Amino acid sequence: MGRSGSGKSSLLKLGGGLLQPTAGSVSVAGTRIDDLGEKARALVRRGPVGFIFQGLNLIGNLSVTDNLDVAGHIRGRRYTTAEKTAALEAVGMAAMGSRLVEDLSGGEAQRVAIARSLMSKPTIVFADEPTGALDSTNAANVTSLFKDVVTTGSAVVVATHDPVVAATTSRVVFLSDGRIVGELSSPSAEEIARRVIAL
Ligand SMILES: Nc1ncnc2c1ncn2[C@@H]1O[C@H](COP(=O)(O)OP(=O)(O)OP(=O)(O)O)[C@@H](O)[C@H]1O
Ligand SMILES: [Mg+2]
Repeated sequence: MGRSGSGKSSLLKLGGGLLQPTAGSVSVAGTRIDDLGEKARALVRRGPVGFIFQGLNLIGNLSVTDNLDVAGHIRGRRYTTAEKTAALEAVGMAAMGSRLVEDLSGGEAQRVAIARSLMSKPTIVFADEPTGALDSTNAANVTSLFKDVVTTGSAVVVATHDPVVAATTSRVVFLSDGRIVGELSSPSAEEIARRVIAL
């Protein structure tokens, strides 16, 4: 958490191998990634690292299930209908598989992006404002989905402005001007809100 411009997206992009640091090093799940070439970093993104973007990165003129197939293709996998249905069910989008992404609402598209990212069962998922476009019910669905992912042994790192979302995690790290300025362990939404106001 941190104010706009504090460095949340930058941190997640560095971890996801989408941005190269100008100084220092980046290690993810025990592997140093900043000294890898572009090809090797692309493999990291297709394998152990999942990324849910602020700007989605879905293909608008393809259907929801076609977008999942494209993601599978990039990873060299052919997802079964059952796998796709299960992923869409988890985000409450099972009935919309044949809809074009460009016809979805922002929140619906966000849920498709989350389903797509989790299908590859990544070791670590970086999610940038994953509930930013969602109403409170769908936001709660997404955070409970993340909790399920965590119980399977994966880690989820979320950038959020929402104290209620942050309160569903085990650790909240606060950023200010690109630096870590504090951290709370399993805090309540009230504690988080107080801390955010003081940043
Ligand atoms: N590639 C880059 N090179 C240099 N500066 C950058 C780069 N990307 C972002 N910045 C700057 O770094 C700062 C942090 O940006 P970042 O996008 O990480 O903020 P954020 O915490 O995600 O904000 P928001 O809540 O608005 O999404 C900003 O001042 C931004 O302009
Ligand atoms: Mg951001």
